[in-house]
Amino acid sequence: MGRFYITTPIYYANDAPHVGSAYTTVNADALARWHRLAGDEVKFLTGTDEHGQKMADAAAKNGFSPQEWTDQVSKRFQEAWTALNISNDDFIRTTEPRHYKTVQRFLSVIYENGFIYKDVYSGLYCVSCEDYYTLEASDEGTCPIHHSQLTNMEEENWFFRLSAFEDRLLDFYAQNPGFVTPETKRNEAYSFIKSGLKDISITRTSINWGVPVPWDPKHVFYVWYDALINYLTAIGYGQENDEVATWWPHSNHLIGKEILRFHGVWWPAMCMAAGLDPVHHVHVNGWLLVGGEKLGKTMAAEGAVRLSDIEPIGLTKEFGVDPLRYYLLRETALGNDGEFSHEGITARYNTDLANSLGNLVARVSAVVGSKCAGQGPPPQSDSTLRLSAMASVENAAEAWENFAPQRALEATWELISATNSYLELNAPWKMESGLEVDNVMGDALEAIRIVAILISPAMPSVSEEIWRRIGLSGSPATAPYSQSATWGLYPGGSKVEKGEPLFPRIKSDE
Ligand code: MSP
Repeated sequence: MGRFYITTPIYYANDAPHVGSAYTTVNADALARWHRLAGDEVKFLTGTDEHGQKMADAAAKNGFSPQEWTDQVSKRFQEAWTALNISNDDFIRTTEPRHYKTVQRFLSVIYENGFIYKDVYSGLYCVSCEDYYTLEASDEGTCPIHHSQLTNMEEENWFFRLSAFEDRLLDFYAQNPGFVTPETKRNEAYSFIKSGLKDISITRTSINWGVPVPWDPKHVFYVWYDALINYLTAIGYGQENDEVATWWPHSNHLIGKEILRFHGVWWPAMCMAAGLDPVHHVHVNGWLLVGGEKLGKTMAAEGAVRLSDIEPIGLTKEFGVDPLRYYLLRETALGNDGEFSHEGITARYNTDLANSLGNLVARVSAVVGSKCAGQGPPPQSDSTLRLSAMASVENAAEAWENFAPQRALEATWELISATNSYLELNAPWKMESGLEVDNVMGDALEAIRIVAILISPAMPSVSEEIWRRIGLSGSPATAPYSQSATWGLYPGGSKVEKGEPLFPRIKSDE
């Protein structure tokens, strides 16, 4: 058993969550749940990023103070995560006193170590990104991501000596080949470092909505610079309850591809400057797209999608919590971009959930009802399904360990298909009641029991419901899976319930 500290990026609290933010959160949640199932001690952190100009602008536009505004929006994120059954252990808000304390301490150490100095900065700024662009990197003066006009900013700022870390970062990447995954993203970050690093401006005087710089209180820290430090705030850096030594060596950041430079370049350099090891691992996910564009609120504002079609809570009402989670985990490899659509959710739902999983549970409970007097028989120790079950457990475990929920679920569905084929081959519904039927149904119930364990990180409620229906007590998510997901533990003699369909089919428009 080990430890596993997983974080999502903290979401900008300028606007309510959408299914793109839910994507990263659901993936991190499933990974956290897998590690708990494996018996690891887990800390799962998410939260909201509440400083910066974008926030101050959004608050002013809506007639609120920044604090009032972020209070409301942060609450909406927490409500969305509750609706999606997210099992985070902590929710950080960057306006909390604990965060101010950690940021000021961490940056004072970097300052004392001589890596922060004062200079004048001018450049093209995108408020939505909260980032500067060079003219070459811009789209003829507009933001390449948001397509909005960049503004010219000139400020006297404090700078972080990022350039001093070029060699150390290259060295670090060479020594730690798995630092950033997938490899394509690792190579992207590495090339960026190799192309030369410029020092970065880390404070602002143009706004006051931020964490004050302890040695120069006219300045507040630039929002990205305070935001990254949230990962240390939650484990008590610079606070009384300091658990950095416990968690930091086991830290994993799950991040979207557009924020790789911050997490793969700035952040490890900041840690080095503070005399701390960099985060252990960064895994980069792609985007959910609509018509090839990154799904987001601007899209709704432009009329490309209806806001209600991309709101997480609305989607859980339409499709169910676990089906939505399943779709977000299963449709796209965690690392690639994928199209998001209601047709896509409907197709996944009908094929994988209604036809494969739901049908398996329904037909097994029906036959146990009619041929075994509703009592689940025990499995055979030498069933041909045993090998399929063991292969699925092994492949799913390997995939979860490697941040590949999609492959883990594929491996799980192989067991579901193998069990459906086993039933078709033996056709127990055509047999007379007796030992032969009992043997087939005991095997099928055992396979379903193992499926319930394997799907628990992705679909926690469905997993519990299946467990209950096949007459088991306790929880499928009891650790460690290495003891529970072994063939032969279905006790036999349990009452199997013939319930409502788990996944009533959704009529698609075609
Ligand atoms: N506040 C910063 C992160 C600071 S972390 C120290 C930020 N916030 S964000 O709200 O804009 O994005 C947060 C995460 O949501 C990013 O990883 C981003 O990739 C993800 N997503 C936002 N829209 C998304 C999609 N359409 N698809 C997949 N992920 C998306 O950046």
